[in-house]
Amino acid sequence: MILPATIALSWPAMLSAEDASLAQRNAFSQPAPSLDAQGLSRFRAGNLLFRKLWVAAPSAYPDSDGLGPLFNARSCQSCHLRDGRGRPPEDAADLGAGFVLRLSRDGEPEPTYGRQLQTLTTPGLSPEGRISVTYREVRIPIRDEPPVVLREPLYRITFPAFGPLHPETEVSPRNAPPLIGLGLLAEIPAPLILANADPEDRDGDGISGKANFPANPAGERELGRFGLKAGSVDLRQQTATALLLDLGLSSKLDPEAWGDCTKAELTCRAAPAGETPDATDQREVGSKSLDDLTFYTASLAVPPRRDLASSRVQHGEAVFAEAGCSTCHVPEFRFRPPMQGTTISVRPYTDLLLHDMGPGLSDGMSEGLASGNEWRTPPLWGIGLTEAVSGQTRFLHDGRARTLLEAVLWHGGEAEAARNRVIAMPPPDRAALIAFLESL
Ligand code: HEC
Ligand code: HEC
Repeated sequence: MILPATIALSWPAMLSAEDASLAQRNAFSQPAPSLDAQGLSRFRAGNLLFRKLWVAAPSAYPDSDGLGPLFNARSCQSCHLRDGRGRPPEDAADLGAGFVLRLSRDGEPEPTYGRQLQTLTTPGLSPEGRISVTYREVRIPIRDEPPVVLREPLYRITFPAFGPLHPETEVSPRNAPPLIGLGLLAEIPAPLILANADPEDRDGDGISGKANFPANPAGERELGRFGLKAGSVDLRQQTATALLLDLGLSSKLDPEAWGDCTKAELTCRAAPAGETPDATDQREVGSKSLDDLTFYTASLAVPPRRDLASSRVQHGEAVFAEAGCSTCHVPEFRFRPPMQGTTISVRPYTDLLLHDMGPGLSDGMSEGLASGNEWRTPPLWGIGLTEAVSGQTRFLHDGRARTLLEAVLWHGGEAEAARNRVIAMPPPDRAALIAFLESL
């Protein structure tokens, strides 16, 4: 598959205020400028699949059935609204959108409920359970400003349909991340990423950074780049996992038509499947559709930065580096993509490595080499457009942080020193740091 490369867009000049806000709302949904006519038509085909509302089988629409029997949403877009991020439930009565609970027991799927709690089903079956979230407030004093109130989430699974979960179940809350620039992350040569890894912290800066090495579809260990714990080697694998766990759809990579139903969930395993016996690969989602969807997720452009000339933003960029943020949120990779003559620069603000973020952010669940405390540094590009795209700002792996400052104040473990610098800096520096993040 040929991935799109360079990104050099700017907002069309002279937009009316209304058009400008529309352009910002769709800022995460643009095709990479490097796509040719054929690429654009594949992008559109993938976009249709991304928005498609799947239905239960059997139906009058064999191309669109096979949903479930257990699922969390009916389309990719319901969680990644406008290709952006989701939000967790606000309280015990709210459902959130794009927020899921992954389950595991000792590195294996939970014996009864499988790899993820599915909160929806096709007619006639019971959803596995409901997610209930409550928050406890924690006040963090910061220099010369009122304390910041963080909210610490408590997750519970209520109405479990198949009896209690295993008492030692590990539960990992995950909020859907934005999908921009993923094709560029896929292209960064592995040696450049591994050059930043320092698992034993030999340079003694308190920051290690380690790579995850999940198995690829052929069973070989490869550098993990995608998923919040870098548990997927590529976008095809990540897309197949989303089809399986989130929508209950089978594909060549995950062939089970019953999705995440376990052997203990008999009614669910017996439910009708949406496979078309005459289709070439006999899966609910055929290989061409899987490829088009993957191409789509690889082709979403990174929106251009804003306010580059602002002196506050420029100062904030310096604060970002001085506070040690750029050790993990690595600003730039330069490399020559395969089959291209010129070197390109990508500016994702991530090292794609795992870091111990301390017990406060731990989900207690391991994924490959990632422990409960460890998360992949998320890219920060486009983060300043979150409100415009999603109409809300919910940051970190489970969306607990409501503002960028809250997100920074949750940093612990290897990132604790950087967080403490933010707490101790004078307010104008802190404001500049946030202005810089808003400009990304
Ligand atoms: C129920 C909500 C939900 C649905 C539906 C959903 N996703 Fe996601 N998506 C998530 C969550 C949560 C994550 C983080 C998962 C992880 O850590 O592995 C994610 C992660 C991803 C990633 C990895 C992003 C990164 O930065 O590494 C891609 C790509 C992706 N989803 C694509 C899709 C596609 C394509 C579909 C439709 C087939 C889809 N998603 C459907 C919730 C959802
Ligand atoms: C030790 C590595 C490390 C350092 C240093 C670090 N971060 Fe992070 N950052 C992370 C990781 C890992 C996450 C994801 C944590 C999670 O989701 O629970 C994160 C998340 C974030 C987020 C939320 C992103 C999102 O999409 O939700 C922001 C904003 C952020 N960091 C900004 C900063 C700033 C500003 C600094 C410097 C003061 C900083 N970080 C220092 C590793 C680091």
